[in-house]
Amino acid sequence: MIKLAPSILSADFARLLEDVKKVENAGCEYLHIDVMDGHFVPNITLGPGIVKSLRKDVNMVFDAHLMIENPDLYIKDFVDAGCDLIVVHQEACTHLHRTIQNIKSYGIKAGVALNPATPIESIKHVLSEVDMVLIMTVNPGFGGQSFIEGMVPKIEELKELIDSKGLSVDIQVDGGIKPSNVDKVVKAGANIIVAGSAIFNSEDIPTTVKLFRENASK
Ligand code: DX5
Ligand code: ZN
Repeated sequence: MIKLAPSILSADFARLLEDVKKVENAGCEYLHIDVMDGHFVPNITLGPGIVKSLRKDVNMVFDAHLMIENPDLYIKDFVDAGCDLIVVHQEACTHLHRTIQNIKSYGIKAGVALNPATPIESIKHVLSEVDMVLIMTVNPGFGGQSFIEGMVPKIEELKELIDSKGLSVDIQVDGGIKPSNVDKVVKAGANIIVAGSAIFNSEDIPTTVKLFRENASK
């Protein structure tokens, strides 16, 4: 069974709680929170204050995708704001193993994200330490970009590595995922599906969510 993680980047920020309640009521399990600092990626989004405000009214798994430099400086803030899972980028961490331990020291889940150009090899040494690996299927920074087809073999490579080590690590995919291509990434091994524009820009969110799940199990 897949889990769906709508990305709030594509929500209407002026009606954020209202939009988030729509995806929660449609049965989506994770809330994917894209944090961007204008340095690691060429865009700025939101910080822990907004996460804290949402936390009071939302029961989904809060999944913070930190696309920021020096993530260690902000991990405690996102923990205090109520995140259940914090994902840092391999490319942003000089001491990745230490950063993952830092996240886990708060008793929450830790994940590591890879830009399209970053090989699986670079996280082999932390695979047994993380709860989730996020394979970016677009270059991070913006919602609504096109899925990079070349990422499918990368998901397969990660899945094989996880299985060969007998680990249970979730594989999340993020960027350009739609009902029309979700089957491909799920077949390759992904089990947590981020979708921003495909869900929030849809006229009928419950139907789109249903379509994601139907197509994922094809
Ligand atoms: C991109 C973000 C994604 C993005 C996904 O940098 O990490 O989470 O919002 O949006 P869609 O599904 O529209 O590609
Ligand atoms: Zn994301």
